[in-house]
Amino acid sequence: MSAIVTGGASGIGAACCRRLAGEGARVAVCDINMDGAREIAEEIDGEAIRMDVTDLASVDEAIAAAGQAIGTAAILVNNAGTDEFGFFKNTTEDMWERIVQINLIGVMRTTHAVLPGMIERGDGRIVNVASEAGRVGSSGSAAYSAATGGVIAFTKTIAREGARYGVVCNAVAPGPIDTPLLRRAETELGHVGPKVIETMVGSTLLRRMGSPDEVAATIAFLCSDDASYVTGQTLGVSGGLAMI
Ligand code: NAI
Repeated sequence: MSAIVTGGASGIGAACCRRLAGEGARVAVCDINMDGAREIAEEIDGEAIRMDVTDLASVDEAIAAAGQAIGTAAILVNNAGTDEFGFFKNTTEDMWERIVQINLIGVMRTTHAVLPGMIERGDGRIVNVASEAGRVGSSGSAAYSAATGGVIAFTKTIAREGARYGVVCNAVAPGPIDTPLLRRAETELGHVGPKVIETMVGSTLLRRMGSPDEVAATIAFLCSDDASYVTGQTLGVSGGLAMI
């Protein structure tokens, strides 16, 4: 079984690469951060491949390289993402563009590149890493919330279009997960940063941050045969932050 994980060099993506490899998958660790990708690939005996999800040519080249290295992907985990924290009134159109390009259109680019191979095989599992922000909103992350809400809607449509070809598509919606991305909110939002994170954690029923491994375990479930009758769903991995 071959798996492509975008944003595999850090945080949730790195945990996902380790988990899928641990379950026997050959993993392509795709990222713009090649030092990080190489480190993870070495650890799991996978392939580090440069991919910038904001650039269609880079995505196409990376998918072709992954095909050569590990075979046609049966699994695609669309995990690459970022945020630039700031209250909406202080943000700019350039910033909205950057966030939507990575978090929403990036998911479309990789899915568009991988889907034909899955359809040809008659088998494929796509898991999109969205966010609870896309379901309930998140202060300081308006463009990010809009983009990840879009990912959830996109997931449902790919589930509808892929079903007849044996391709399932689901999303996970993490809550606050302890990764470099979330930690950046502490500084980027200035003096209210720590308070915003504290409020997020306080909104979870379990009153703690999640770990990248906890998200990776849910992604691995959605990629497994145990989830063979699950498609078009968004599974919250958020300590009960939202119950939708
Ligand atoms: P992270 O910052 O630790 O890892 C993100 C990875 O994506 C990095 O390796 C980065 O180099 C890569 N990346 C960024 N731009 C890229 C591009 N243009 N092309 C390819 N790779 C690129 O962040 P984290 O927290 O592990 O985030 C992973 C996913 O989880 C993201 O989609 C994020 O939106 C989502 N998420 C994270 C939450 C959290 O609390 N940490 C909460 C909800 C969702």
